[in-house]
Amino acid sequence: MSAGDAVPLLSIRGLTVQYGHGRDATVTAVRNVSLDIPPAGIVALVGESGSGKTSLANAVLRLLPAAAGEVRLNGKDLLTMGRRELREARRRVQPVFQDPLAALSPRRTVLQSLMEPLTHFDIGAPRERDRLAADALSAVGLEPNLLQRYPHELSGGQRQRVALARALAAGPELVVADEPVSALDLPLQHRIIERIQALRERLGVAFLLVSHDLSVVRRVADAVAVMYGGRLVEHGPASRVLEHPAHPYTQALMRAIPHPDPNHAPPAVLGGEAPSLLTPPAGCVFHKRCSEALPECVTREPGFSATGDGDFSPGGHRVRCHLWDR
Ligand SMILES: Nc1ncnc2c1ncn2[C@@H]1O[C@H](COP(=O)(O)OP(=O)(O)OP(=O)(O)O)[C@@H](O)[C@H]1O
Ligand code: SF4
Ligand SMILES: [Mg+2]
Repeated sequence: MSAGDAVPLLSIRGLTVQYGHGRDATVTAVRNVSLDIPPAGIVALVGESGSGKTSLANAVLRLLPAAAGEVRLNGKDLLTMGRRELREARRRVQPVFQDPLAALSPRRTVLQSLMEPLTHFDIGAPRERDRLAADALSAVGLEPNLLQRYPHELSGGQRQRVALARALAAGPELVVADEPVSALDLPLQHRIIERIQALRERLGVAFLLVSHDLSVVRRVADAVAVMYGGRLVEHGPASRVLEHPAHPYTQALMRAIPHPDPNHAPPAVLGGEAPSLLTPPAGCVFHKRCSEALPECVTREPGFSATGDGDFSPGGHRVRCHLWDR
């Protein structure tokens, strides 16, 4: 069964996000992206800096307006919901950001921070909330003795776990985590990523896991979505995308992952610069950096093609590259 067979929890269709840059100039940071997240699925959204990952995540969270498209949560479009429905949707789709210090008030103890979503969304009886807060903390592997601490009394890893616990306290079905571990050192990154996997298994929470680092998310993702210059350029089950990357950009990202064996060949860093989104190149947005570019790549933008697995649905392995459309 492919991931596309399950009824999606979140279904993104044709999502476009734009920013105004001075008079008349518009940057299209996300262009016509379609993507599904199944219940309890972990979808990794990867791509280098400026590819549009945060813009997409923030549009899903309705922190940014979308210029076009739909974001359906169990069939209901988040982008057009009224206030009452949106409030419930906000409980069900919780954010976790890169910088936990920005998410946690310096003047609130861990307990007070964890209480906030419980009172805001009216979860549990008031006398149960201390226990619910302690449960959320224990779900991320922290001891209750941290409940009375302030953020500055915690390590970076503990703070990020508290931010994750705060998101979980709301009882979400989906956590949108934007670079949740990139400020941490590598062993801590791996510990938190393992925790995310355990949470998915134990609580059935789905994750949209945003990262510029494919090596971090490859351990846990069920599906991988690769963005470049605001476009989704490859998407599919993690086993397909990571073992048989079809897009030259994804192949370059895979070659850039350092090998654990220090005697192995060093990682190959992709040369060139990310495209300007103010004046994007004609044709394939990647053509200036692509060693396999064909003449048509300069003039004609590729649509999606199915790869070897033949599945062209949003749950199949899709690639936006002329090498696959012939
Ligand atoms: N508030 C803003 N106003 C104008 N342009 C913006 C704004 N935020 C982002 N952009 C532009 O949109 C594009 C995509 O940015 P975005 O932050 O979504 O990328 P990203 O993939 O999250 O990058 P990073 O890995 O650095 O976080 C970039 O070209 C950026 O300059
Ligand atoms: S469409 Fe052309 S330029 Fe773009 S990735 Fe494929 S081969 Fe390279
Ligand atoms: Mg970002």
